[in-house]
Amino acid sequence: MSGKFCAVSDVLTLTPIGFIRTEKRVKFQARHQPSEGEEETNVLELLPGANYEQALQDLAGFDRVWLLWWFHRNETWRPLVMPPRGPAKRRGVFATRSPHRPNALGMTPVRLLGVKGRRLTLGPCDLVDGTPVFDVKPYVAAYDSFPGSKAGWIDEVDAALSEPARFTVHFSTLADTQARWLREHREIDFLPRLIELLSRDPSLHRTRRITRRDDQTSFIGCGAWRAVFSVEGEAVNVLAIEPGFPLRFLTRPGYEDVPDREAQMAFLERWPGESEV
Ligand SMILES: C[S@@+](CC[C@H](N)C(=O)[O-])C[C@H]1O[C@@H](n2cnc3c(N)ncnc32)[C@H](O)[C@@H]1O
Repeated sequence: MSGKFCAVSDVLTLTPIGFIRTEKRVKFQARHQPSEGEEETNVLELLPGANYEQALQDLAGFDRVWLLWWFHRNETWRPLVMPPRGPAKRRGVFATRSPHRPNALGMTPVRLLGVKGRRLTLGPCDLVDGTPVFDVKPYVAAYDSFPGSKAGWIDEVDAALSEPARFTVHFSTLADTQARWLREHREIDFLPRLIELLSRDPSLHRTRRITRRDDQTSFIGCGAWRAVFSVEGEAVNVLAIEPGFPLRFLTRPGYEDVPDREAQMAFLERWPGESEV
């Protein structure tokens, strides 16, 4: 910005006040918006040495707070994005809550369960573990809530989603064993989200990461994993689970930070090729 009376810069430098701790390690595991119905506890510990204990004074009386945060796992933005809900249709990014924004800022209202020192205990949220948080503000229903306001294309999608799910999801013995192994041995469980997505609409969709593999099968990306499935009428048959990366990548230098890397390698040892359906 320039001008005779304007001395402010047009660049704002933000510094995180803290980093959220959640169970969600990868983006796929995080909800698109927090779900009120879920029992979930998350922690935001503000950084020491900045007097944030004092800044949190008087917050405990609020049921909810806004978190303003950084989509730090994204590097680009796009003017048109395909929201994960609804038909495979692109929308203007400013008409969405997409993470792919010119300024990568997220805003989430979360239940405030407790405040102690620099530590906030929070209810369900849609942030992945380690997300930098820039600000906390009290949620004030009188300012922040306008029930009955039109929500454009989202109202249309919600109307369609209020219908019962059209597809039933079945698991082959192999897929079931693999899912149980992941849950029991590695505490990885993406099944609820997988079932929710596939029971609604298993058709090709870039943002839902559904890709056709061949004439018979497709796969859906689930974090660092894939579920291979086929569709027959209104039945979705999950045939197998696969790691998202082949072994030759997982063992290559530079791939140490692949999510669930160790688990993928152990999985490939257990199912070297059986999952390739
Ligand atoms: C649709 S956005 C909505 C965020 C926020 N409630 C808003 O409206 O601005 C939520 C999604 O952001 C993704 N996400 C969460 N934390 C992220 C991070 N640190 N960096 C990039 N994407 C993230 C997850 O995939 C999550 O499902």
